[in-house]
Amino acid sequence: MPRKPVVLVCRKIPDDVEARLKRDYEPRLNPSDRVYSGDELVKLADGAEIVFASHSEILSAEVIGRLPASVKGIVNFSVGYDHVDVKAAKARGLIVTNTPGVLNDATAEIAMLLMLGAARRAAEGERMMRNGEWKEWSLAFMVGSQVTGKTLGIIGMGRVGRIFARRARGFDMKIHYFNRTRLAPEQELGAVYHARVEDLLPHAQFLSIHCPATPETRGLMNGARLALLPKGAIVVNTARGAIVDDEALIAALKSGHVAAAGLDVFNNEPRFNPGYSALWNTFLLPHIGSATRETRNAMGFKALDNMDAIVAGRAPPDRVA
Ligand code: DGY
Repeated sequence: MPRKPVVLVCRKIPDDVEARLKRDYEPRLNPSDRVYSGDELVKLADGAEIVFASHSEILSAEVIGRLPASVKGIVNFSVGYDHVDVKAAKARGLIVTNTPGVLNDATAEIAMLLMLGAARRAAEGERMMRNGEWKEWSLAFMVGSQVTGKTLGIIGMGRVGRIFARRARGFDMKIHYFNRTRLAPEQELGAVYHARVEDLLPHAQFLSIHCPATPETRGLMNGARLALLPKGAIVVNTARGAIVDDEALIAALKSGHVAAAGLDVFNNEPRFNPGYSALWNTFLLPHIGSATRETRNAMGFKALDNMDAIVAGRAPPDRVA
């Protein structure tokens, strides 16, 4: 029987995905589930054809440059691939894939949770209930911002942005958006297009970020752009922390220019800026946008479809490099 291709599996993967992987490949599993350093990754990849990574593995140009010659591809268990130096991978002739399309509903759910939680002061309320801090009720107690009927600005009207817009319409929100290209009317569904992010921001009583982290979007929401939001706006980020300038958002949250923020993604995860947790007008989650059983299985199987194609010498369905 021919030897099965060796796969370096960087993190623990769902049981059903692992079962299919074991059927077709010789996996080098990571039962401890700790994040490998670049050095460990290079060493453990020796003889492997595929590095099966997630967004916690930093595949910099330096690490990619040292990967053994046996490696043909980096198969990501993620839609985002900002953790991979795609230019360096291309230069090495490595194929890189991601898992688009299967995270949309799960991520839009978390964006909705964050939007509602930030607007209705969920973090403060939770803390009070758990710490026995709720002493009395009054008409002025825990008053937040109503979501229904407000204007929602969306940066990045890709798959997740469009599903989030659909869910937000259920709250009678008016949708404005910025995207590199304007959507066709049947996708826009009456949403108002802005060709420049600066033109969108003054309309956004709520702002939700859904674009990928690229050299163009890193630090996009800086102090100058946050200042263009209406006073009391609420900011939601389920895309990548790198799109937001943390110090600028923290300053805006402190001044009240931004009333609240709901964040699932951060710069330097998991060691995010402590300025956020020191504030109670933030509603914070630990990067769980895609963390449902259904979505994690779908991501894993999609990744395996890509892996199968690379190993068989076919074009993988979700090639990004
Ligand atoms: C993704 O798929 O990019 C999610 O952020 C989880 O990694």
